[in-house]
Amino acid sequence: MRILSGIQPSGRPHLGNYYGAIRQYISLQSGNEPFYFIASYHALTAVQDSALLREYTIGVALDFLALGLDPAQATLFAQQDVPEVTELSWILSCVTPIGMLERAVSYKDKIAQGLSPNHGLFAYPVLQAADILIYLSDLVPVGQDQKQHIEMTRDIAAKFNQQFGDILVIPEPYILDSTAVVPGVDGRKMSKSYGNEIGIFDEGPALKKRVMSIVTDSISVTDPKDPETSTPFLLLRLLAAPDETAEWEIRYRAGGLGYGDVKKRLLQLVDETFAPYRERRRQLEREPDYVMDVLREGGKRARAVAQQVMHRVRDATGLPTTY
Ligand code: ADP
Ligand code: TRP
Repeated sequence: MRILSGIQPSGRPHLGNYYGAIRQYISLQSGNEPFYFIASYHALTAVQDSALLREYTIGVALDFLALGLDPAQATLFAQQDVPEVTELSWILSCVTPIGMLERAVSYKDKIAQGLSPNHGLFAYPVLQAADILIYLSDLVPVGQDQKQHIEMTRDIAAKFNQQFGDILVIPEPYILDSTAVVPGVDGRKMSKSYGNEIGIFDEGPALKKRVMSIVTDSISVTDPKDPETSTPFLLLRLLAAPDETAEWEIRYRAGGLGYGDVKKRLLQLVDETFAPYRERRRQLEREPDYVMDVLREGGKRARAVAQQVMHRVRDATGLPTTY
């Protein structure tokens, strides 16, 4: 099965990215044909500082590799190394109704946040559809917030196929219920744009400050509490073994539990779980040539697949390639 997903290089990765998406990338990489990429063209809709975009782009490659992405199993590449994707994006935009893009929640959200929108931001879902469709991907592991984008991709592919013949594969989203929406320190969805994230590679006092700042309610220590609505518990559940999670659940419901205790244990778990990855990332930072080689090789492999599909797409649309 061909798996595809991407993350924008727009800041440091957080626990929502890891549990909502990256962990699934890693678990799906063996026995499948995975393509994972750095969505730099997408990030350009917001990050318009060349040094920063370059730094973040390499940063995502380091993150993926440190977290266990194996370039021998998965094709890891940067979006701009397959420029054909922007060509497909144009072709797809010609079968995409404006109304569909106007209904995009991510676009409406960004406007609501006061961002003055550029055309790239509006066309973002079409480029995302091209990312997925150009590799004839079957499955797209993502968090819940990307569900609508995958639905739009499916609609766009169906419209293309209806008009030009059955070329594109209609992909399925792969969203795990248990990690679909990871909460941030303020209880809303964890997101870079809300500034409520706990970074995967945070450590020391910065990590402690983040975890201890998790917002909780003011129910007194002695009263019983509902774990399902408590951010420290919802985060702890992602990291703790099932037995331990069950014990905390009992303690919540019994009363007598202080949120400070849950936070302390959560801090310990985050610190321990990601310590080996932090170490691996530091090592990789000292091997920039290796990281560039991985991206170069991945880019070549991905581009070869994309070019084949584009030949068929061009032929089907009446744009035959003459070279
Ligand atoms: P952000 O909202 O912080 O900008 P991205 O848009 O870069 O995150 O998301 C990258 C991937 O991580 C996507 O697949 C997205 O669905 C997933 N993801 C992001 N935040 C969360 C979250 N809080 N819970 C679950 N998945 C998430
Ligand atoms: N929009 C995705 C995000 O913000 C990133 C992305 C771009 C993507 N192209 C993709 C995800 C293709 C999955 C498949 O997280």
